[in-house]
Amino acid sequence: MQALDDSTPKKNLNPYLLFCVSTAAIGSLQFGYNTGVINAPETKLRDFFHNVSSERYGQPFTMGANTMVWSLAVAIFSVGGMIGSLSVGVIVNKFGRRKSMLFSNSLALLGGSLMGLSSLSRSFEMIIIGRLVIGVFCGLCTGLTPMYLGEISPTALRGAFGTLHQLGVVVGILVAQIFGLEAALGSDRLWPLLLALTILPAVIQSAMLPFCPESPRYLLIVLNEEDEARKALERLRGTDDVNDDIQEMKEEGMKMAMEKKVSIPELFRSPNYRQPIIIAIILQLSQQLSGINAVFYYSTGIFKSAGVSQPIYATIGAGIVNTVFTIVSLFLVERAGRRTLHLIGLAGMAVSALLMTIFLSLVNSNQVMSYLAIVAVFTFVASFEMGPGPIPWFIVAELFSQGPRPAAMAVSGCSNWTANFLVGLGFPKLEELCGPYVFLIFMVLLILFFIFTYLRVPETKGRTFDEIEQGFAAKPAPSSVPDAMVLRPDSAPLSTT
Ligand code: GLC
Repeated sequence: MQALDDSTPKKNLNPYLLFCVSTAAIGSLQFGYNTGVINAPETKLRDFFHNVSSERYGQPFTMGANTMVWSLAVAIFSVGGMIGSLSVGVIVNKFGRRKSMLFSNSLALLGGSLMGLSSLSRSFEMIIIGRLVIGVFCGLCTGLTPMYLGEISPTALRGAFGTLHQLGVVVGILVAQIFGLEAALGSDRLWPLLLALTILPAVIQSAMLPFCPESPRYLLIVLNEEDEARKALERLRGTDDVNDDIQEMKEEGMKMAMEKKVSIPELFRSPNYRQPIIIAIILQLSQQLSGINAVFYYSTGIFKSAGVSQPIYATIGAGIVNTVFTIVSLFLVERAGRRTLHLIGLAGMAVSALLMTIFLSLVNSNQVMSYLAIVAVFTFVASFEMGPGPIPWFIVAELFSQGPRPAAMAVSGCSNWTANFLVGLGFPKLEELCGPYVFLIFMVLLILFFIFTYLRVPETKGRTFDEIEQGFAAKPAPSSVPDAMVLRPDSAPLSTT
């Protein structure tokens, strides 16, 4: 066996590292919570819009106007997400990773307060603006958290820690689903509190962040503060022997010093970055265009039309399956590798989408079909969490070195949010047009993403950032060598042989 010495996960895993990782993952929890929170109180919010418009204008909104305000409140979150995710690159380079997380929490305070005080102030505008601000905050979280996690974790644990981002997201969704029950905070009186609750984790994270170090990679490579980087690493690794890490970062830093600063257009122009940025974007699209949020935004409606009598519990069931399988993936990702898990997940989702279509279309002829449809939704969600859920969020940080990483995170994050917005907005209309066959659209997309992943996505498990980057840079100038041979889809060292 090769030396497992310093990179043995056990040696690197220590309570302080776990503390820092958990602190960062609160950002993921926030993203999940705010994704899931808006569904349960739909009728309460619609009633609120109705009442406010009656009080203000002497007559209530028409049905159409009410729906418009409601959809705006739902969808503006993703618009905020696009803005937030695009800003990540500029902010992290200016303030560093840790301070950026700290600052971003002020947006949670602002957005949460606006929504929480909307009922008292009789203002539905405050909900809409609050959702926009919270969207910007969550857009920042989806860039900041995976970046910080990727940069502080030891190579051998990078996939598992990256998956923690997704674990935070799914737990956030589940908490929001449960708190949103009528008997909890989803009541007429308490819904403003449900929406404002995002303030609490923001305060907790702000109190914890001062005890976490700045990312050592940022300290060394961007700020050139070797002593500080060394101190941070010693605390994170729980040992004085951090020379290997420092050496690896220095090599990356030297390479970076030879490059120009990488802007977003440069990512697409430079032949070294073009291929990884395309992979990053398509992986993010594969996550959202898999149709996962059709389930997370609209599952209650889907279950209702499948004849399920208590659809909200089936929705919570989906949240539980979602969480359990993210944990499964957490343990598998350093064994099976990213590429394999992504492929298994996409294939499982495509099969589940087909089964869902069959069962949903037969619901009227046989009652058992509605149970089978629930099972198919559950396997759809479970497959998602095997790969397409967690992997796209952290693999972007792996595909790029320190120089282009912030710009790459911004571009890929924004692609994710844009696709999220389109599915959120477009699904109800598509469902109206296609009925039970709507998931066939996602099935076709899933098959296309499977083919792309099979042909183009390299394995990144166990490789240093530098090795991964070399795999792309080593690509020979236009020749007849297929890319899949350059980016060998296994975990052997990358080479062009
Ligand atoms: C991923 C997606 C998010 C989705 C969630 C479901 O984090 O980015 O949009 O709601 O998974 O678990």
